[in-house]
Parts: sequence; C-alpha cells; structure tokens
Amino acid sequence: MNVLRFSDLCAQGQVAGQRVFIRADLNVPQDDAGRITEDTRIRASVPCIRMALDAGAAVMVTSHLGRPTEGEFKPEDSLAPVAQRLSELLGCEVPLKAGWVDGVDVQPGQVVLLENCRLNKGEKKNAPELARKLAALCDVFVHDAFGTAHRAEASTYGIAQYAKVACAGPLLAAEIDAITRALANPKRPLAAIVAGSKVSTKLTILQSLARNVDQLVVGGGIANTFMLAAGLKIGKSLAEADLVGEARAVIEAMKARGAEVPIPTDVVVAKTFAADAPATVKAATDVADDDLILDIGPQTAQRLAAQLKQAGTIVWNGPVGVFEFDAFAHGTETIARAIADSDAFSIAGGGDTLAAIAKYGIEQDVGYISTGGGAFLEVLEGKTLPAFEILSQRAAG
Ligand code: 3PG
Repeated sequence: MNVLRFSDLCAQGQVAGQRVFIRADLNVPQDDAGRITEDTRIRASVPCIRMALDAGAAVMVTSHLGRPTEGEFKPEDSLAPVAQRLSELLGCEVPLKAGWVDGVDVQPGQVVLLENCRLNKGEKKNAPELARKLAALCDVFVHDAFGTAHRAEASTYGIAQYAKVACAGPLLAAEIDAITRALANPKRPLAAIVAGSKVSTKLTILQSLARNVDQLVVGGGIANTFMLAAGLKIGKSLAEADLVGEARAVIEAMKARGAEVPIPTDVVVAKTFAADAPATVKAATDVADDDLILDIGPQTAQRLAAQLKQAGTIVWNGPVGVFEFDAFAHGTETIARAIADSDAFSIAGGGDTLAAIAKYGIEQDVGYISTGGGAFLEVLEGKTLPAFEILSQRAAG
C-alpha cells in the first residue's frame, strides 16, 4: 500500500517549523476514579510525537476517549489523565487545550494535547465544515491512530482529505507493513487462529480467511459450532446451531482449495462454568450431554502446535479456551508458546489475545502486536480501512 510516511518527511527536513497535527488513538481504559488502567496505546503514540518534536515541528495531538455526546463536555470525557501520562512519558509538560477548533497557539518545539475530538460537533458524521477547520490548523496531518483506522470521522478521514499534506505516522505505518506482510504477501503456509465465543461475530472473518489461509484454526465457542458442523456432539457447550450451515461452508471452501480447518480430536470439559470446576480430558467423540467444552485437549493442542511451528506466517485472534481459568488454559498456552517458538512471522490482535500474550509473557516473541481492536478485526474481514484508503488516495496525488 502506497502512503506518504511521516518518517520520510522528517528525514527530508520537510517538517521543521511546520504545524503538525497528529491524530493518535489514546482511547485507554480507566477505573471509576479516572485512573488509567492500561497505557499501551499512549506508549505506542510517543514515537510519532517525539519524531515531530525532534524534526522541529509545532505539534498538536488529539484523540477520542470513549463515545461522548458531541457538544456536551462531561469531566469523565476529558483527556486530562492522558495529558498527565503523556507528560511523564515525554518528559515535558503537555498542556491540554479545550475549544481548539478555531485556532491553536503552539510554537515549534512544543506539543499540546487537544481535548477529546469526539466532543466537536460533526466529528462522528465527518462533517466537511469541521474537517476543513481541522485541516486549516496544520501544514501536515499525521494519521497515527490504527485503533480508529476503521472509522471515517472528521479527525481521521475528512482532515486527511483537506489537509495540505496527509501522511501515516510510524505506528500506522508499522501496522500497514505488518498487515501487508501477513495477509497480502505472506510466506506460506499461512495459518490463522480465529477464536471467540460466537461464530456470528466473526463469520465474515472466517469467510474471508477461508479464501486465503492454508490452515484455519478455530477455537472457543466458534470451534464448538464447527464441531457440530463436523457431526460431533458438544453437550451443553456454547454454540450457534443456526450457523452450522455457514461453518460447514467454510470447511468446504477450505477443502476445495486443499486447505484445512483442523477440528479438535480431544477436548477439556467440565460440568459447570467455574474456575474450580473439575476438568476432564475426553476424546471429541465422547462428549456427554451435560458436558461443557472449555478448552481444546492436549492431543489437539500438540497437533496444532506442530502445524504452527511449520508455518511461514501466523495470524492470531482469540484464545482457544477459557484461559482465565488455569484448568482450561493449557490449549491457549500451548498455542501461545508454539507461536513464540515458531520461525513464522506472526501478527496478533484483539483484547483477549493481548491478555493471553501478556499472561504467558511472549510479547517479545510475536512478530507484531496490533494496537487495533475493531480495526484489526475489519482488516481480517478483508476490508480496506478508510484511513488506508484516503492516505493512499492522497499519496497518489
Ligand atoms: C477502540 O477502542 O477500538 C478504538 O479506540 C476505537 O474506538 P470506537 O470503537 O469508539 O471508535
């Protein structure tokens, strides 16, 4: 994908003294007292801000936080805790500016944080009059918010249409590169792991990947529906019986391409959904009517691990069992460690997946960990994200 890169503009000395507007994704979780509970996205946004400051720009940064009502400021919608955390990470004061749409006072070498951009009227619907005002604030617009790359809002899309220069920041560029490497030009075999509670929420992902990947590993409630499609009994496990036909179609589509959806041959079951429920390993053909499948079995996990170790590329979205409960975490741990040990280029994304990666401490062994939630899922669905579309359009002139 051809987009203008902010790093190139900086290296070419085109940014010194310029007004740079960075759209970051600083939408981080907070507790009831407003304290940030997880700051990955803020840390991931720092390199772009530093790059702009080092290049001698006057730097404006904004982000959304939550989904506030436009035009109605409430204290909990404020980026104030983010400004504080950014100040600590950058080692300089980051003033927070409210009511900034009609003008921002910032000098080269300074950085200001512009209050929650979703408070601006017209943001969500990408109102052209707002987008033009945002574009007028800067010489260079930098999209560095992969987490919102699937949204076409005034601060993510409209501004990119109207700004004098529109480019991708280093975080967005890294995501583009990793996605291209994993899905557009993958080293084969390409294996994807798609797990989660419901087929319905990931059906388009499964259908899209079925056209591209060599192995499509399903896990969680999704695997249960695929087991039904393969004619196996799943007891009282979570599944969507009405989607068995779709699951079967995915299996057939893969088979027709000489590819495979590996169906579990053994599973870990319990009688109740609880951390202390006794766990029993069973053959997939022996699941009883009152069993709940909560993990893949050790034989299945080993077989999948062996396949992942042979893969050229691995895409991972979703833990394959209830990994929050130790007795049902072995499948996910085995998969995680196989990905870590594999020579394949791996890309992982999604909230639960990131939690599993953190639990097993394999952050350094995954090729790329995406900062996108919904955006990552839309990439897996095969969609062209609005951010990529407008930036490549601008790069094409
Ligand atoms: C996210 O948390 O996935 C992004 O920040 C996007 O947020 P949104 O779904 O409210 O647009």
